[in-house]
Amino acid sequence: MKWSGIIQHYQRFLPVSAQTPIVSLNEGNTPLIFSSYLTSVVGLEVYLKYEGLNPTGSFKDRGMTMAISKAKEAGAEVVMCASTGNTSASAAAYAARCGMRCIVLIPDGHIALGKLAQAMIHNAKVIAIQGNFDDALNLVKEVTSQYPVTLVNSINPFRIEGQKTGAFEICDVLGNAPEFHAIPVGNAGNITAYWKGYKEYKAAGFATKLPKMLGFQAAKSAPIVEKRVIPHPETIATAIKIGNPASWKSAEDARDESKGLIDAVTDEEILAAYKLLAAHDGVFAEPASAASVAGVLKLHKAGYFKGQKGRICCTLTGHGLKDPNIAIKNIGNPISVKADIHPILKEIGF
Ligand code: F0G
Repeated sequence: MKWSGIIQHYQRFLPVSAQTPIVSLNEGNTPLIFSSYLTSVVGLEVYLKYEGLNPTGSFKDRGMTMAISKAKEAGAEVVMCASTGNTSASAAAYAARCGMRCIVLIPDGHIALGKLAQAMIHNAKVIAIQGNFDDALNLVKEVTSQYPVTLVNSINPFRIEGQKTGAFEICDVLGNAPEFHAIPVGNAGNITAYWKGYKEYKAAGFATKLPKMLGFQAAKSAPIVEKRVIPHPETIATAIKIGNPASWKSAEDARDESKGLIDAVTDEEILAAYKLLAAHDGVFAEPASAASVAGVLKLHKAGYFKGQKGRICCTLTGHGLKDPNIAIKNIGNPISVKADIHPILKEIGF
């Protein structure tokens, strides 16, 4: 069957009508990859929902096709977002596709190179502010409440509607919901969206159970875990460097209703999972994405899955190529030799 994006495919679950002009890049339908390595370590079947294979390289495209289509339907000409990088890349691409202006506020010096390149090449007006993501989001709220500009951060409910389709796809592939769903938590829109998706799919008869939602924040950017706003969040996983998540309450609801948890993982644990995914599974995801796997490994070590059966799905939210600097910084540069067979054979070990 021809795949034309998540709105086409899941229309009956989405607030669209025949009048909605669908702005799509054929997002969604991303692979659910079985991880034999993690399965052997954890003892339950582990699957990776590789969202880095969306058109702009992150899960944001699911929400953005909805947000931009609905903005277009309402006659909007300008959209705006605050971003740690991926939202801006996606907003810029979808806005470009339908001739809208896109304005993005980013924390100065703290977004990955690939994401900045994307927003720029799609002709967004990129404004770096001397502040963090939380400051940027407050400013976006201020501008969009006073001027004819549509906010496309995940406090826009259409974003959540689109993003919930990730859960639908998992159920479609597995034939049911998994027992556990692990996911990185930043502004907390995606955990909210997945939980909504699982509940709706079960209510519609496409799943008979619901997963426990396992959310993971970076240790020094873990407001939900610490139950306080973090004024100066820190982490190498810049995508989730957020101290005051917009969807804080609904993330807690997802955690509590599902009898799951929201925990923190250190930068060291994130980097270890990031390298392990690339080295053992051949899957290159950005550091923030690896927080879901880091969290599963942390829980495994603590005995959380002992005596449990079933499947764990980990959302890998963005592609590793978004942040090439971090890969090179942590792995190193290639060896340089003369263009001669001898040093090459020596390096190989022959
Ligand atoms: N992983 C990646 C790669 C992200 O870019 C984000 C959020 C998250 C996880 C967390 O998702 O915010 O729904 O809890 N990035 C936003 C952005 C904040 O601006 O691109 P969340």
